[in-house]
Amino acid sequence: MQTRNSIMKTKYSIVFICIVALVIIEKESSIISRVSDKIIQSRAPPLDPHSPLDNSNTTQNGPLSMLKMLLSTLSGAKGNSSNFSDEQEDDELDHLGTYNSSQGRKHVLLLARTRTGSSFVGEIFNHHGENMFYLFEPLWHVERFLSLGKENYNGTMLGRLYKDVLRGLFLCDFNPLEKFISPPPEEHVTAALFRREMSLSLCEDHVCSPFDKEVYEPYRCRTRRCGPLNLTLASESCLSKQYHVIKTVRVPNLESLQPLVEDPRLDVRLIQLVRDPRAILASRMAAFDAYEVWKAWGQDGQVPEDDYEVKKLKGNCDQIKMSAEVGLSHPHWLRKRYMLVRYEDIALYPMQKAEDMYRFAGIPFSPQARDWILRNTAQEEGDEYSTRKNSSEHAEKWRFSMPFTLVQVVQRVCEPHMKMFGYRIVDDEKTLINKSISLLEDRQFQ
Ligand SMILES: *[C@@H]1O[C@H](CO)[C@@H](O)[C@H](O)[C@H]1NC(C)=O
Ligand SMILES: *[C@@H]1O[C@H](CO)[C@@H](O)[C@H](O)[C@H]1NC(C)=O
Ligand SMILES: *[C@@H]1O[C@H](CO)[C@@H](O)[C@H](O)[C@H]1NC(C)=O
Ligand SMILES: *[C@@H]1O[C@H](CO)[C@@H](O)[C@H](O)[C@H]1NC(C)=O
Ligand SMILES: *[C@@H]1O[C@H](CO)[C@@H](O)[C@H](O)[C@H]1NC(C)=O
Ligand SMILES: *[C@@H]1O[C@H](CO)[C@@H](O)[C@H](O)[C@H]1NC(C)=O
Ligand SMILES: *[C@@H]1O[C@H](CO)[C@@H](O)[C@H](O)[C@H]1NC(C)=O
Repeated sequence: MQTRNSIMKTKYSIVFICIVALVIIEKESSIISRVSDKIIQSRAPPLDPHSPLDNSNTTQNGPLSMLKMLLSTLSGAKGNSSNFSDEQEDDELDHLGTYNSSQGRKHVLLLARTRTGSSFVGEIFNHHGENMFYLFEPLWHVERFLSLGKENYNGTMLGRLYKDVLRGLFLCDFNPLEKFISPPPEEHVTAALFRREMSLSLCEDHVCSPFDKEVYEPYRCRTRRCGPLNLTLASESCLSKQYHVIKTVRVPNLESLQPLVEDPRLDVRLIQLVRDPRAILASRMAAFDAYEVWKAWGQDGQVPEDDYEVKKLKGNCDQIKMSAEVGLSHPHWLRKRYMLVRYEDIALYPMQKAEDMYRFAGIPFSPQARDWILRNTAQEEGDEYSTRKNSSEHAEKWRFSMPFTLVQVVQRVCEPHMKMFGYRIVDDEKTLINKSISLLEDRQFQ
């Protein structure tokens, strides 16, 4: 009620301002433009002075027509206020204040950590069809470049660098990324783009140039081979597509992305993927040599609590939780632009979750994406049940291989994270390996 009242108050005061403005419009048109600019600006993202927006139709439209539009929206909202939710009201206003310069393009950032199923989710988007431009871990180049340098970058600076590169890529500008590719591209051509083959759009006819075996090792691009990547062609391909998805495991916190989300040229949605940290550790132990030390601890049952690895684990859990807290607190800049998804829910309901993510992203779910999911979850069409059983079984494999000592360590340092996302803590090994006890609590994240 409180919010509703204040919204009504705001609404009436805006109407009042408008009326006052209209009354004096004949005498003082310059005042109008200031008043209306203020109204619009208060709801619009800050303008980038170099953006093409400065010449857009929105600003060329007279302030009078802007006011009329505002008034008609407000009176429309008042007419059926008995049935009008706060969200819808905000939408109408948001719509007014948002410049439509992304031209219907959608930009999705998949935020994850290694071993959280992000490649799988990336593929769900990658296979959307010909209108999709997908990039797999472009920030790998930035991270590697910085790790080779002597300078130490703190989280703030790192976030800024990542954000600038991502902004370029969403706008189909590879220049900010090129600075980090090693060896440096020559005339915007590179043979070193990380995991290029993971992107269907970078393996298309138009972008797949012929190769000279003498000069380059050809890229194995899915079923074909391509020469080095001409980034100018990649950029052209990108510009011709409506949907843009980037997967990354490297962005440490959500806040650093605010300028990206508010960029008026983009229509960004963030999907954060999380997974049970016990399962992540089990999966990393199986996949990465760097986790040998955990294996040793698992065997002799002793884990030094102040070890760097344990602290790192805790740091990771805290970071993920902090990002999710920002997202789920719905700050204004993230309204309707943040979605949290658990790996385990995707394993249980792959098709349904994929549809949810597409809907959230504003991208129509395509038959190609659907087919890809069917083929890759061993799902018989119309046979939902076997998939559920099967992929959830897979998602729970770690329970039967991970030493209980390590489970306890993860639970101790990641407890707040686990409670937030609904991962059940177990007190004894019997519970851990009892298949009829689920470690996943039902949660809706909104
Ligand atoms: C701007 O608006 C005018 C009049 O409404 C229209 O004729 C023109 O095509 C628009 N220009 C752009 C770039 O949308
Ligand atoms: C209110 O909304 C409900 C459900 O959307 C609809 O059935 C009903 O007709 C609406 N009532 C009015 C007065 O608009
Ligand atoms: C924005 O513009 C695009 C293309 O010009 C159009 O398809 C889309 O519907 C517009 N979106 C809104 C919210 O007006
Ligand atoms: C990060 O480094 C920049 C530049 O050196 C500095 O201005 C900023 O305060 C640092 N931020 C933190 C959180 O240490
Ligand atoms: C890359 O593609 C662009 C656009 O077709 C072309 O102009 C340029 O010459 C190509 N670069 C090289 C080195 O082939
Ligand atoms: C589970 O999936 C595997 C391959 O992904 C398949 O071979 C097996 O038959 C499936 N089991 C069930 C019960 O569907
Ligand atoms: C597993 O848990 C269920 C439900 O709590 C319990 O009934 C069953 O006895 C347990 N099985 C074993 C082997 O402990």
